[in-house]
Amino acid sequence: NAAIVIAVDGPAAAGKGTLARRLAAELGLPYLDTGLLYRATGRRVLDRGADPHDAAVAAEEAASMRPEDLARPDLRGPAADMAASTVAAIPAVRAALLDWQREFGRRHGAVLDGRDIGTVVFPEAPVKLFVTASPEERARRRWLELQGRGVAADLAQVAAEIHDRDAQDANRPVAPLRPAEDALLLDTTSLDADAAFAVAMALVRERL
Ligand code: C5P
Repeated sequence: NAAIVIAVDGPAAAGKGTLARRLAAELGLPYLDTGLLYRATGRRVLDRGADPHDAAVAAEEAASMRPEDLARPDLRGPAADMAASTVAAIPAVRAALLDWQREFGRRHGAVLDGRDIGTVVFPEAPVKLFVTASPEERARRRWLELQGRGVAADLAQVAAEIHDRDAQDANRPVAPLRPAEDALLLDTTSLDADAAFAVAMALVRERL
């Protein structure tokens, strides 16, 4: 299975990462969380004291990113979330990160999670999942995740931040958040991680 690519897309806190990581482990494929590329770009722009809306600065930071940037400890949290989403709407940023993602997937195959893997990065991927859950459930999951990391957060505020970020991701002109036509829609609102994994593996067996 030299270059099998599996695309896992969906809105924030729907369970994409958990599912994608598990599929990768099960199938012996490398895993790439593509959100980290946008998060690291946003962070580098903020480090320069620049505005994440500044297309020239953001494109420069995306193009000069190094692998160690993806391991920064400060890539999660409200400021990083929104900076990532803002730089992700800039076409030159997306262009700078595209080859990187394709290279990664083509080398040994991969499971990639993000927003546009099935629509733009690997439109030819044989297996595509679009993972969703109700807004309330996604807010609850993100809130629990923050609690687990010892970060105090207000549930209503977490819900509002997720709502704003999804709206920004879904309404941008370039590579908006949307399911590919041939993606399986997987609503995890009332599915636990094991049940979601079982549905995904059934699709993998059918398509590979
Ligand atoms: O997946 P994650 O929440 O870490 O992604 C952070 C942000 O990066 C998203 O809100 C989105 O704006 C952007 N992103 C994207 N395309 C991807 C992955 C992430 O635009 N493939």
